[in-house]
Amino acid sequence: MMPEATLGTSGDQPTPERILRLANGYWATGILGVAASHALFTHLEAGVDTAERLAAGAGISQRGVEALLDGLVGLGLVELRDGRYRNSDEASAFLVEGKPDCLSDFAKLKLGHVDSLKALPEVVHDGAPPTATVEVADNPHWEKLVTALAAQSVPAARIAADLLRIADAGEISIFDIGGGSGVYSAVWLGLNPAARSTQLDWRPINAIARRLVAERRVADRFSCVDGDFHTTDFGTAVYDIAVYSNIAHQEGPEDNMAIFAKVRGALKPRGTLVVSDYIVDDTRSGPPFALIFAAEMLLKSRRGRTWRRADYQAWLAKAGFEDVSFHPTPTPATLIIAR
Ligand SMILES: C[S@@+](CC[C@H](N)C(=O)[O-])C[C@H]1O[C@@H](n2cnc3c(N)ncnc32)[C@H](O)[C@@H]1O
Repeated sequence: MMPEATLGTSGDQPTPERILRLANGYWATGILGVAASHALFTHLEAGVDTAERLAAGAGISQRGVEALLDGLVGLGLVELRDGRYRNSDEASAFLVEGKPDCLSDFAKLKLGHVDSLKALPEVVHDGAPPTATVEVADNPHWEKLVTALAAQSVPAARIAADLLRIADAGEISIFDIGGGSGVYSAVWLGLNPAARSTQLDWRPINAIARRLVAERRVADRFSCVDGDFHTTDFGTAVYDIAVYSNIAHQEGPEDNMAIFAKVRGALKPRGTLVVSDYIVDDTRSGPPFALIFAAEMLLKSRRGRTWRRADYQAWLAKAGFEDVSFHPTPTPATLIIAR
């Protein structure tokens, strides 16, 4: 397969290849999402390696499987050798069910989001959606998203745990704002048996988090506050660590600043805020994932966007954080540690 970097050029001349692939990009969402829905990557990992056997294993037509396999080979997620199919290393690491970093649920979720793009032309015209999905409380959007997102948050939570030495931190109290599936609490309470964690989120989402945290056998040190993080009082000097993961991009500058100021007050004097988000360069020239994600926030929020490092630095300084550092992760998210 032609490497991505060379698509769209032949020698010095531009070619239409890359643009045609981009214009047909929804096929990638479809092929990946449907293959994940039928657990094809899980069957392949178990050694089911022909279209005929995959069709039988997944209970779908052989013609359908053959088209999916062609597409997956084209996308570089499946390899074909001597007539036998197998997962690429990437698919094996991130698309096989049962692995903690599995993104199959996310791929299935995104297949269901394709329809939402129909609204994009009007939203681009108007500058905001008629209803901001991310601002509706008790929204089924969140219930589906948070569990699918958990696999992406696991590596970031682990890296943050290393950076903050969570395992050796003793009796710490953690506050997770918009904690979603409860993944940060599940990972961190698992690493530190003396830590306690509180999550603030909408009531139905907190119910999802309680289930995940109970599955990880750390529920006795986990509590929830049901409510809106814009209006809920965070308390004063109560927490050692606060988390704000995958939230800043749905909020506008004023709300992010107000929340950072509330967090600073809720942290003990030497406390630490961890932010995880898709963060763009100060010149807005990269990285690609964070730049492209801005359109998702245009579609789903009134004021959200992917924000620059300089934005976070300014907001955090204004809120009273003096020491701010940025840390890459193997996912498109960057971690910010602010003290
Ligand atoms: C993108 S998810 C992030 C979940 C989690 N922090 C993670 O990184 O995996 C955003 C979370 O914020 C919650 N949320 C969004 N707006 C909220 C608000 N105004 N008040 C409370 N929770 C909110 C959603 O319910 C959802 O759980």
